[in-house]
Amino acid sequence: MAGGFAVEAKVAGGGERREFKGKITWYVWLCGIIAATSGLMFGYDVGISGGVTAMDGFLIKFFPSVYARKHRARENNYCKFDDQRLQLFTSSLYLAALAASFAASRLCTRLGRRRTMQLASVFFLGGTALCAGAANLAMLIVGRICLGVGVGFGNQAAPLFLSEIAPAHIRGALNILFQLDVTIGILIANVVNYFTSSAHPSTGWRYSLGGAGVPAAVLFLGSLVITETPTSLVERGRRDAGRATLERIRGTRDVGDELDEIARACEAAAALSAEESAYRRLRRRESRPPLVIAVAMQVFQQFTGINAIMFYAPVLFQTMGFKSNGSLLSAVVTGGVNVVSTLVSIVAVDKIGRRRLLLQACGQMLIAQTAVGAIMWEHVKANGNPGEKWAVAIVVLICVYVSSFAWSWGPLGWLIPSETFPLATRTTGFSFAVSSNMLFTFLIAQAFLSMMCRMKAFIFFFFAIWIVIMAAFVFWLLPETKGVPIDEMVDTVWRRHWFWKRFFADAGDGRIGNC
Ligand code: BGC
Repeated sequence: MAGGFAVEAKVAGGGERREFKGKITWYVWLCGIIAATSGLMFGYDVGISGGVTAMDGFLIKFFPSVYARKHRARENNYCKFDDQRLQLFTSSLYLAALAASFAASRLCTRLGRRRTMQLASVFFLGGTALCAGAANLAMLIVGRICLGVGVGFGNQAAPLFLSEIAPAHIRGALNILFQLDVTIGILIANVVNYFTSSAHPSTGWRYSLGGAGVPAAVLFLGSLVITETPTSLVERGRRDAGRATLERIRGTRDVGDELDEIARACEAAAALSAEESAYRRLRRRESRPPLVIAVAMQVFQQFTGINAIMFYAPVLFQTMGFKSNGSLLSAVVTGGVNVVSTLVSIVAVDKIGRRRLLLQACGQMLIAQTAVGAIMWEHVKANGNPGEKWAVAIVVLICVYVSSFAWSWGPLGWLIPSETFPLATRTTGFSFAVSSNMLFTFLIAQAFLSMMCRMKAFIFFFFAIWIVIMAAFVFWLLPETKGVPIDEMVDTVWRRHWFWKRFFADAGDGRIGNC
């Protein structure tokens, strides 16, 4: 089929290949690029807070005791920034996002994925205004909570949106646009911090926090242009609109097969929800495989230790003796590596597959974490700094670590949970993934500086142990989902996996599955 594609998937029974007609249209990419802006909002927030909390002007205004401690000459290197309230500034956003993700699952089902993203941008704009104009700590925290609600809504809706509009054979690549934007957001935030802190030492933090309004405005305007997903339209009884959308995003009128499959999924999902809620259904035995995988992917993603780097790289680099601007610059370097390496994953994910990327990255991350831990243990003592040679070695190793995360656990932590649930439990199941991400992001954000203060260099060995555990998990328990149409996961993947298939032994008619 010239310029078109055939979805290739081995379906239950073996050998058989299912084909949906269509092209990869510019419109599907446009919708993908706009929806992914949600990731830009999230990434900007991840990247901005570490730099802001290292700015003197910000500390003097909101955390004078931390400022005083930071400048005490003989302060323990590992404990300079250990302050629960300062950590609350970073982590409050994730707590709000955690709560919001459950509401977001309902919104996604009732209002649709597109509207939920639009709402996310509105909360984000409000939160940005409060943070940038904050006159006191309370205003700042309320602003962070609004941003958190925006992140909770956006992170729920955007990955689902991307997975649902994508043709199966490029679903990985299209979905990873979200993570690409996360990394771009983090990088932009690092650059903004670098310039605002040097150009406006006392008020730079206001510009940094205000910058979050840009991606939010882009998402708001963009959400007026993009379509709703065909699945969400059909799910809400708008089959004709679903067909029209499918024709537009596939660039052909010949979408009957795909539409039928979506409609079957929706009918089965509707029949099931008439019987019981998605929450109850998620408690059933046959729902366990995708639920365990989705939650584990997100928990493990956080236990790679990535956010210790993303939030606190500037702080960490200051711990190693870089001056304030030098440390922001180092954060820009790690931010750049993060973006470029995510591109690798866009190219590789639908060719090499999810499992291989994850396993390769575990090896690379393990080596880098252990080496950073060893250097810190030997050369970064409580007082004094390690010297330029070792500080540079640590920055290089952190880049090695970040690159492997960026082509594996970063994007796949979002992709895999968004593609493994059957429609009947998709939005609710995915909300457990999002909230697990937020919960563990919160815990790491809240605990890292205290952990570093107490565990010192051992903090890196702690994360290295987790990496061994997650490699074993992927090796034995994670099935490959590359190229499988999203509504065929149960029969093609779960029922055929050596371990997870036992959860379907009593499933009878398999209704949870291929809706
Ligand atoms: C994670 C974030 C992390 C970011 C780094 C995302 O996938 O969910 O917690 O900060 O990747 O690129």
